[in-house]
Amino acid sequence: MMMYAYSLLLLGLIASALSIALPQPSFVPSPGNFPATGDGDYGGGIFSIPLSEVGNYAPYGDGNGTELPKGPGEKTCGSGPYPAQMLTDSSLPGHTIFAPKVPPDCKLSMPFIAWGNGACRLNATQYENFLVEIASYGYVIAADGTPNGSTTEQTKVQDMRDSLDWVMAGKASKYGNVDSKKITTAGHSCGGLEAMSTAYHDDRVKRIMMFNIAIFQDDRRYLLQEIKVPVAYFIGGKTDMGYNTSAKDYALLNAGLPRLRANLDTGHLGTYPATNGGKFGKAAVAYLEWQWRRNATAKAIILDPQSPGSLVKDNWIVESANW
Ligand SMILES: *[C@@H]1O[C@H](CO)[C@@H](O)[C@H](O)[C@H]1NC(C)=O
Ligand SMILES: *[C@@H]1O[C@H](CO)[C@@H](O)[C@H](O)[C@H]1NC(C)=O
Ligand SMILES: *[C@@H]1O[C@H](CO)[C@@H](O)[C@H](O)[C@H]1NC(C)=O
Ligand SMILES: *[C@@H]1O[C@H](CO)[C@@H](O)[C@H](O)[C@H]1NC(C)=O
Ligand SMILES: *[C@@H]1O[C@H](CO)[C@@H](O)[C@H](O)[C@H]1NC(C)=O
Repeated sequence: MMMYAYSLLLLGLIASALSIALPQPSFVPSPGNFPATGDGDYGGGIFSIPLSEVGNYAPYGDGNGTELPKGPGEKTCGSGPYPAQMLTDSSLPGHTIFAPKVPPDCKLSMPFIAWGNGACRLNATQYENFLVEIASYGYVIAADGTPNGSTTEQTKVQDMRDSLDWVMAGKASKYGNVDSKKITTAGHSCGGLEAMSTAYHDDRVKRIMMFNIAIFQDDRRYLLQEIKVPVAYFIGGKTDMGYNTSAKDYALLNAGLPRLRANLDTGHLGTYPATNGGKFGKAAVAYLEWQWRRNATAKAIILDPQSPGSLVKDNWIVESANW
């Protein structure tokens, strides 16, 4: 005890002598401690962890399920009615846009999605097939990072918030009739945790989609009390580091909150690089079409195992409640 206190004192003296600040976490988890915003201390915000700690929670690494694509698929314009593309837009620096090549007729109200990449990397091209597929159904997406961005730095909540501010300022209107009341935050792995951190205390966000991820640390799960919108988890089965954690979070979401948890045996990497984003692309489109356009066929794909092309027929294991 003495030694410990002494070391602290000594460190403090050295720090003040050198005028350096010892790093102080801005947020210390403790039940009842709800920070004002989800920014947190590292890439991905309050729901995330430092990349260096991931190994403590990933017994199978990235995993390697039976449904993991064997290699990258073809690049297309998406399977939807509005052929889409990846592009950059100088009005939203440091981001990548995915949108129909030709703005759809203004009668089509277009939902908006802010996307975070795996490991909170700045390189959005890794998700091109998947995000072009979604955009081709009449969605505008702003992903963190540029098409060929750094794979060493990490994005933060403010990067995703910049996308929300951009769409609220009407700057997405060149891509069509974007409805700023239909906002989803979504992301893969660290990007999913960033999506939840961005949605925390930001009521502009109406849906959260978590891909292959959920909260790592048990002592942060109480923060889920502040999540007030439906959450959908798309997870890669038993070898995904998001498998056990998503089961815990799914159970802890606020009573009555609509929720979905679907598992496909891919491991942590999903099917994003497959043609049209593979089965994860199909599942994401169906969920979004159900949520934002009340598309009954899409709803049945997610919830009704007997429906043609249902997720269950595609080998997903689906749990849902409160819809
Ligand atoms: C994953 O499994 C496939 C088929 O079993 C195998 O060919 C491939 O090498 C494995 N990949 C990794 C990274 O373990
Ligand atoms: C970004 O991702 C793409 C697709 O995975 C890859 O080809 C490219 O090399 C990456 N860029 C960097 C800088 O790592
Ligand atoms: C992507 O970035 C890497 C490293 O920054 C560079 O070597 C490569 O040429 C870039 N690729 C493209 C297509 O711009
Ligand atoms: C999930 O929990 C079980 C039981 O503790 C453990 O054996 C397994 O490795 C865990 N899986 C993952 C992906 O963390
Ligand atoms: C309804 O959703 C399904 C499945 O996602 C999609 O294929 C179809 O195009 C949608 N229908 C309309 C009218 O948007």
